[in-house]
Amino acid sequence: MNKNSSIFRINHADSGSRARTGFIDLPHGTVQTPAFMPVGTNATVKAMTKDWLDEIGFEIILANTYHLYLRPGSKLIRDAGGLHGFSGWKKNFLTDSGGFQVFSLSSFRKITREGVKFRSHIDGSSHFLTPESVVGLQADFNSDIQMQLDVCTGFGTEWKKAKEALVITTDWAKRAKKAWLETPDEYQGKLFSIVQGNFYQDLRKESIDSVIDLDTPGIAIGGLSVGEPPEVYRDFLASTSELLPDDKPRYVMGIGTPDYILDAVLNGIDIFDCVLPTRNARNGSFFTRDGIIAIKKERFARDFGPIDPECSCRVCREYSRAYMRHLYKNDEILSSMLASYHNLAFLHQMMKEIRLAIQENRFVQYRSSFLSRFSGDSV
Ligand code: GUN
Ligand code: ZN
Repeated sequence: MNKNSSIFRINHADSGSRARTGFIDLPHGTVQTPAFMPVGTNATVKAMTKDWLDEIGFEIILANTYHLYLRPGSKLIRDAGGLHGFSGWKKNFLTDSGGFQVFSLSSFRKITREGVKFRSHIDGSSHFLTPESVVGLQADFNSDIQMQLDVCTGFGTEWKKAKEALVITTDWAKRAKKAWLETPDEYQGKLFSIVQGNFYQDLRKESIDSVIDLDTPGIAIGGLSVGEPPEVYRDFLASTSELLPDDKPRYVMGIGTPDYILDAVLNGIDIFDCVLPTRNARNGSFFTRDGIIAIKKERFARDFGPIDPECSCRVCREYSRAYMRHLYKNDEILSSMLASYHNLAFLHQMMKEIRLAIQENRFVQYRSSFLSRFSGDSV
């Protein structure tokens, strides 16, 4: 099969917004979009078994090249049958390239035109990654979607520095595509390029033009949710996504609170990922229709109702807030497990509702009624 053939089918475009439903066809099955992807940095979504992820209904999860390259190494994963053989998760994996993790985790990094040199956050050892080597690592993982190596800059970066980062990112995208096209035929994973350009409209536009020109199977918007105020996020999400072609899947990297997801979908975004649902869960912070609750609060001590009465997940059917609070207060392992299950199931249910609402041309209405309840200003 042609590596660069189209993988995206639009199912229905909402009549009142840019939201759309669709399908992404990947080596390990079709993904219904819009879709939320749980983050499984180390080829495991923390505190969740693969069977639970499957039971909830996820069709794709994320893993991180940066972490898996450092430990246990790509050759070990390749020899175990790729990420699927190694972890037992038989549906799709998207792997991030490491561009963002080098930027956020490593103790030292030096970016040149050639690649990025950095020190491991685990043991301080030195490493060098190039756009080509990162394509090879992700092919060893047998990632279903692989991301180009990019340079992500933080909010407040001056224009000149943002431009330098963009020039390198653009060059790396071209090198990544060439290397990806040269991977063996057996490897059928798809390459996504990444739009950068910080918070400068001219740079974002320049980035989009080159990404469109490069013609990868999918396109990601990077460099958002890096410390900017919410209105700046919204602004750049809207202006950037507007310029992307309709016929390719669009991915906003690193966002996943219900309000940010709804904004992304409104702007025609198809997939997103975020550590927050699972990280929040481990910190005792649970999603409910009426907003986020902190389970440690005294008012839940004798609350024998479910976390969210409207959630149909197994945790809400079988356990109470009082019990969840007890587990949390005692630092029980089960606390993280059940809480992660619920938060992920909550988001998955929300995504299903979103898809249905788009299908019925009432997404804008769905979004405002969800938000007015979730952010507490309902009447
Ligand atoms: N995750 C969140 N934001 C980014 C980004 O800009 N680039 C990459 N590679 N990963 C991300
Ligand atoms: Zn639940």
